[in-house]
Amino acid sequence: MPRSTMSTNQRVTLVSRPTGPATSEHFLLESEPLPELESGQIRVAVEYLSIDAAIRTMLRGQGFHTQIAPGEIIRAGGVGRVVETADDGFAVGDAVRGQMGAQSILTTKASRMEKLENPVEPLSAYLGALGGSTGVTAWIGVREVGKPQPGEIFVVSAAAGAVGSIAGQIAKIDGARVIGIAGGPEKCAHLIEVLGFDDAIDYKNEDVNARLKELAPEGINVFYDNVGGPILDAALDNLALKARVVICGAISQYDDMDNVTGPSLYLRLAERQSRMEGFAYFHYMDSIPPAMEELSGWLADGSLVMPEEILEGIESFPEAVQFMYQGGNTGKLMVKVS
Ligand SMILES: NC(=O)c1ccc[n+]([C@@H]2O[C@H](COP(=O)([O-])OP(=O)(O)OC[C@H]3O[C@@H](n4cnc5c(N)ncnc54)[C@H](OP(=O)(O)O)[C@@H]3O)[C@@H](O)[C@H]2O)c1
Repeated sequence: MPRSTMSTNQRVTLVSRPTGPATSEHFLLESEPLPELESGQIRVAVEYLSIDAAIRTMLRGQGFHTQIAPGEIIRAGGVGRVVETADDGFAVGDAVRGQMGAQSILTTKASRMEKLENPVEPLSAYLGALGGSTGVTAWIGVREVGKPQPGEIFVVSAAAGAVGSIAGQIAKIDGARVIGIAGGPEKCAHLIEVLGFDDAIDYKNEDVNARLKELAPEGINVFYDNVGGPILDAALDNLALKARVVICGAISQYDDMDNVTGPSLYLRLAERQSRMEGFAYFHYMDSIPPAMEELSGWLADGSLVMPEEILEGIESFPEAVQFMYQGGNTGKLMVKVS
């Protein structure tokens, strides 16, 4: 497939709805000529596209997230730079972010893009530590929902992924003892050596319930869940009194949302006087500016790191969702387009 030139756009559309994992056969990479630029529009060369777990839930045809129909472009947040403008508010070279769609060159109403003043470089930071569905989500889940206190035990699942990496680091900044759950010995070493977590559990090779009992014999105070399924049950079985279970996501369930496996140990909530609370980051619009400010400060002074996993080229987008669901990424998964 040829790379985009300034006369063509390359975009990724949905071919058919997956039942089970979303693989490259469900997506099509196609070229199209660029449309004429109309007044009030800008043209953006996309630099990075965010790969989010929610892309899979958008392919189902019904559900909480905006749905994508066969033939439509795959939704993806992104960052890029203006290469052509017919809007007074934007100049060539301006950095922008927004819902770009899985494509190389976006032609859009200028008002649909957020201009980034004095942007942090590389722009990938706006999808990682400063991203709405990454750093900001983690900040909200920790600060507004889980609220770990100094000395409390904070456990996070999908801990080496984008949201989990940041959630654990914020809990650590807030004085909690942090245990991450991730797949494989390399990811577990990464949690301790790179992210500074206190302990790690390899759910692919260890008994999560038994390890939680070893590492937190008095119980866990906050469980920040990105995974659902058996890992959620293991955490529920180990709650301390007045624990908080934060339902951020449940990636283990997204491939078969017609048959979601619920937690069987939910009665531990009653027994331990605990609560379970879900959220989506856009339920907390007022929290986004303070989250961005604090995350930017931590990123600048080095107290927060956001490892990135980059797949090269728009042609890698069709494999990216499966790559994430197989646990290929450590840190924030993105496609670098240009
Ligand atoms: N509430 C909100 O507003 C909001 C916003 C954004 C994202 N989220 C949620 O946050 C979670 C993480 O999203 P993300 O974009 O940051 O992805 P991510 O954590 O960067 O990537 C997903 C990771 O999940 C793990 N995983 C995949 N399948 C699994 C399974 N069956 N069991 C256990 N672990 C599995 C994999 O790591 P391993 O190698 O460790 O298996 C994979 O790397 C998702 O549940 C997502 O829906 C919620």
